[in-house]
Amino acid sequence: MIYLDHNATTPLAPEALEAMTPYMLEHFGNPSSIHSAGRKARVALDEAREQVAALIHARPGEIVFTAGGTESDNLAIKGAAWALRDKGRHIIASQAEHPAVLNACRDLQKQDFKIDFLPVDGDCRVDPQSLIDAITEDTVLISIHHANNEVGTVQDVHALGAIARERGILFHTDAVQSVGKMPIAVDDFPVDLLSFSAHKLNGPKGAGALFIRSGVPPLASLVSGGGQEKKRRGGTENVAGIVGFGKAAELAGAFLDSDGPAHLKSLRNRLLTGLETSGLEFKIFGASSLSLPNTLGIGFDGVSGETLMIALDLEGICVSTGSACSSGALSSSHVLKAMGVPDAWIDRSLRISVGKFNTLEEMDKATEALTRLAIRIKSGSGKPAQAPTVEDAGT
Ligand SMILES: Cc1ncc(COP(=O)(O)O)c(C=O)c1O
Repeated sequence: MIYLDHNATTPLAPEALEAMTPYMLEHFGNPSSIHSAGRKARVALDEAREQVAALIHARPGEIVFTAGGTESDNLAIKGAAWALRDKGRHIIASQAEHPAVLNACRDLQKQDFKIDFLPVDGDCRVDPQSLIDAITEDTVLISIHHANNEVGTVQDVHALGAIARERGILFHTDAVQSVGKMPIAVDDFPVDLLSFSAHKLNGPKGAGALFIRSGVPPLASLVSGGGQEKKRRGGTENVAGIVGFGKAAELAGAFLDSDGPAHLKSLRNRLLTGLETSGLEFKIFGASSLSLPNTLGIGFDGVSGETLMIALDLEGICVSTGSACSSGALSSSHVLKAMGVPDAWIDRSLRISVGKFNTLEEMDKATEALTRLAIRIKSGSGKPAQAPTVEDAGT
């Protein structure tokens, strides 16, 4: 298999699995227990919190562990909205957010919050002026993602966050796609809340974190229960998952320090250069100069993205389309729509996202297969596509 869908999820790093295993077997204690088994788990949690905080240059006390990026987004948005509801009921997000943010905002709309979803330009960027124009006296929260999961575009969070900060408005960014792929240091990043997720950086599924800058007013808790996570998220902690997250964060830090993003970029560029010499006509969605180093949103002229994705899958190459599957029916990508991409090109879209374990040889094999299959499909001899039945997940 050649796996080129790292924005959906990444393989677990063997070192993370090794770190986790003892916490599922011999050190299974509950971190809230006073006895030695519990204390052992507590020490592991504390260490993981330090590792995860270090990846984004936060303090350990600013990290709340969650079950993943979706929960972190919900905690940030609903937690802030509910806590500040007496101050104001207006929230600003963008049209290109992940469904975790879009749907958290839509839930709030049903509770009499007013949400403005800002447009994005053809490269998927939010114009800082449109943010300024949308702010009202009632605005309590701005939530704009850092890097887009479909096209990889990185927002100018420095400019957007500064606008919020100057006006005393909380700023949340969904950095699920960027943490681990590019350096992020919250001491130099004007955000109050930042979501990220273990399984996007070679950690396990089911563990995530929300950075809450110290001094931010307490968020309302989504999960009521015991006093875990300093009363910010009830429930016995996923100790093994969090330990794996900690190890993966440590490895991601070392990867970033050792020029990892340049490695990802060279893999992506190898593919792109190969495609440029193939004679195929294609469009790149989003400006690659503004993009995550690992992501390529691409469409081939006259070639259905879904048909190409399935043909590649039959050859053991995993990529995804820019469309979301909902009960077997493909719905058009809301991100490409917001970018103004015509419907015909949305249907052709493919997302290729490389990871640190990919090799140049794999890129060459993928280029050859993409070229051959795209030509075959365009000439009308492609295999009939059968859409797989999966839920609309927005990966
Ligand atoms: C930008 C973004 N936000 C949030 C999520 C949700 O993260 P998780 O799968 O950890 O719930 C994803 C996952 O695809 C994502 O890409």
